[in-house]
Amino acid sequence: MPDRLDAVMELARRRGFFWPAYETYGGSAGLYVFGDLGVKLSANMADLWRDIFVRPYGFMEVDTPCLLPAPILEASGHVSNFKDPMAECASCSRKYRADHLIGEAGGKVSEAASPDEMLASMEGLKVRCPECGGSSWTVRPFLTMFETGIGPYAEGKGYLRPETAQGIFVEFNRLLEIERERVPLGIAQVGRGFRNEISPRQGMVRLRELHMMELEMFVDPEDATCPYMEDVRGTRLLLLDGARLAEGSEEPREASVEDALSQGMIKTEWLAFFMALSQRFLTELGIPPERQRFREKLSGERAHYSAQTFDHEVLMDGMGWLEVAGHAYRTDYDVASHMKKTGADYLASVRLARPTRERRRIWSINVGALKAAQPERWKEVLKEYGGIKDRTGEPPVSLAGVRVEPSFLVTKEDEVVVETRKFVPHVVEPSFGLERLMLACMVHAYSRQEDRTVLKLPYRLAPVKVGVFPLVNRAEMEKTAKELLPAARKEGAVYDESGSIGRRYARIDEIGVPLGITVDGQTLQDGTVTVRDRDTWRQERVNAAEIPSEIRKRLTAS
Ligand code: GLY
Repeated sequence: MPDRLDAVMELARRRGFFWPAYETYGGSAGLYVFGDLGVKLSANMADLWRDIFVRPYGFMEVDTPCLLPAPILEASGHVSNFKDPMAECASCSRKYRADHLIGEAGGKVSEAASPDEMLASMEGLKVRCPECGGSSWTVRPFLTMFETGIGPYAEGKGYLRPETAQGIFVEFNRLLEIERERVPLGIAQVGRGFRNEISPRQGMVRLRELHMMELEMFVDPEDATCPYMEDVRGTRLLLLDGARLAEGSEEPREASVEDALSQGMIKTEWLAFFMALSQRFLTELGIPPERQRFREKLSGERAHYSAQTFDHEVLMDGMGWLEVAGHAYRTDYDVASHMKKTGADYLASVRLARPTRERRRIWSINVGALKAAQPERWKEVLKEYGGIKDRTGEPPVSLAGVRVEPSFLVTKEDEVVVETRKFVPHVVEPSFGLERLMLACMVHAYSRQEDRTVLKLPYRLAPVKVGVFPLVNRAEMEKTAKELLPAARKEGAVYDESGSIGRRYARIDEIGVPLGITVDGQTLQDGTVTVRDRDTWRQERVNAAEIPSEIRKRLTAS
């Protein structure tokens, strides 16, 4: 069998799942096109993801802009931290990921190593420039976000988002209001992320523009119990946890979710819960659990916002372990950062079991002073504030874009009944890169049967569900086959009348179509057609009138 990965890449390009973009212009590394089959497969994968992560728990989904004003990513810490070590050849000025050059030269370096440590490692390994053979290098951090100007004079600096998550964090106050301050609150987003990779040389694996599926779970740090643990408690995970890695071991240990929590390998229930769901998701994508593992990122390797991260990895033939998801306990880092930067109220609240009495500063709007200072805008300010009632807590820095001056407020001290506890929520995040998952899913579905390729995708993922064929090019057969099409089209069907029936079956097998329906001579006699199964190649005769229900029955049986 040819190398599965190469074979899948060739198939993907030839049949139109995906291919490198802009090849007629010489190509642009790290950018890919999804063809029709790729669009359908990715939509089916996202739908399965929603079925596992979003719908069963009533979480909500949002769609926020890809373009973010710079202050948001300054506050989130990305401008300072979203950097990779860049090695530059002193002879030809070509630039590479320093850690990748070290890895390719047989060395090993922690992601936490400083540029000087990377340089020392490269010198020790006598790393040569792949382009010109030079051996003199500099190493420095490179910001891997795409910077842009917003507006005709680029008056506002902006970035393309490196993760969908920040859009959720920034809008969290509004989302919280919509959800009536309900916590735990899960908010999902499927959308594009952008990373200005230094030297993307690994096809679909290292992309400058990718599809992400992320979920931000906002929880109360004082009650971070996950109510859905029963669902996953017994799930067994292969863990390469921090303690294991610290011993210098690369051998994962198998532990149930329950044991991983009680032994402190995973720090929070929600993180363990999402890791178990993640394993379920990949298994339903056709990747067996024994080819999956969770590798903990050590301190220094983790993203700046994370207190614990596990990469979900898949064993890929000829490639080793490939990271397809990152599951992070982000603490209150992001919400607190945006709250500090904007002064907006990002606090969640829970009702106290027993109300307490406290002396509090109470404030309200001094409408007269506001009206005098803002004759044009005072109504908008009052509307944003929500009327003229008393408020406790810190007054906002701005309302409706107007700076709140001390003279706009009336403040007093009073005893108040406190019925709720306010807090900055903590966040647990499962985050997936769709293209890598698609590759892993297709490589695992790839099989060879009697010199033919069969893409054994799980039925619900198959981009096309049914092929409809006349056995030979005879007018009556073509007419009957076309009459069957509308019913099959509902499930996603292709019609093909060119070439031998064997070649047509081969064409649908290699794109993973589960069922082939063929109209033949007997159809014209007794109204039955053959239904062929992609995986067994067995055919059965079925009454044509029953085809719609037969298709549905077979597609849901897998
Ligand atoms: N949101 C997680 C990441 O971008 O890696």
